Amino acid sequence: MSHALPASFYRSRDLFERTRELVFPRSWHLALDALDVPADTARPFRLHEGFLDEPLIALPGEGGPQFLSNVCTHRAALLLDAPRTGPTIRCAYHGRCFDHAGRVVAAPGFDELADFPGPSDHLPAPPSGCFAGLPFVSPDPDVSFVDMIQGWAPFVAGLGLRDAAADPDADREFEVAAHWALYVDNYLEGLHVRFVHPSLARSIGRYAVFPFPGGVLQVAGPPEGNDEPVLELPDEHPFSDNRIAAIYVWLFPATMINVYPWGVSLNVVTPLDRDTIEFTVVFLQPRDSPTTGVTRAIITDLEKQIGEDIPIWENKTYHARPTLCDGDGPLPEFRRWCQQFYAAEDAA
Ligand code: FES
Ligand SMILES: [Fe+2]
Repeated sequence: MSHALPASFYRSRDLFERTRELVFPRSWHLALDALDVPADTARPFRLHEGFLDEPLIALPGEGGPQFLSNVCTHRAALLLDAPRTGPTIRCAYHGRCFDHAGRVVAAPGFDELADFPGPSDHLPAPPSGCFAGLPFVSPDPDVSFVDMIQGWAPFVAGLGLRDAAADPDADREFEVAAHWALYVDNYLEGLHVRFVHPSLARSIGRYAVFPFPGGVLQVAGPPEGNDEPVLELPDEHPFSDNRIAAIYVWLFPATMINVYPWGVSLNVVTPLDRDTIEFTVVFLQPRDSPTTGVTRAIITDLEKQIGEDIPIWENKTYHARPTLCDGDGPLPEFRRWCQQFYAAEDAA
């Protein structure tokens, strides 16, 4: 039997701030802003805008996007506030220029200076990596990129993500009054589906859950006798002998990758304050898909499901704090994601 996090975790402003300072900066994050950066373009963004607010630049690179700090090494001006094409990034404050590898290529006023430029004059590049076309970045990760992907990579490799492209017309953003961890709880807790999402429940059959270090894999089969499309799994896939309707990967703390026969949806959750989140949903479809975009029906289904979830999250966040209840009860087969915060023996 497993437990969710104690109620104090959701209520504590101190723990929320410590999550901002100690947890998210040391975790890997799916960089939705780095999907499909055009050639020769530098695209600025803030990692988890409104929470981490790390100013970064995404650049196209071989094997996946590259990332640089978006803060000038001279006097800390923000370098870019909009995408820019061309071979260099020029600071508007005093004209320092950087190439797309972050190296200083011009620095007005510093021409005569010995030992210039030194290592600290070039733009820092945060640790990053790309798997199956999905770009990840982290300010200061606790684990290597290779270690981060090893628990889920075999289940996603060969499913066509690398050949998929984002459909910009289908992106959706939602702001909801809920603690960010509540969103994760809900994503990882399948029991509510049959009560809150009855139409979704009819399209899901067998359901299996596989926790791995740093995340959770959930796998749904089609209902018995259902001839709806299933995933085309390569021979080397661990589930190649099964009919799989969907694969859901949650990566600690705030990334979700959902693979369906029609394509992929990516969810990223950003805490805005203790009781508010913003979450973004991006749709990817195969580049050779016969449809020109994610179909309206898929978006409508997603919006319907989120509309069904929102009252549940808000109710759980805002009901009165009863003295007779101090958090969730035991949860069979709960995904024990709180072990990311606590030692296994504390969370079991
Ligand atoms: S702050 Fe960028 S050149 Fe001075
Ligand atoms: Fe739900």
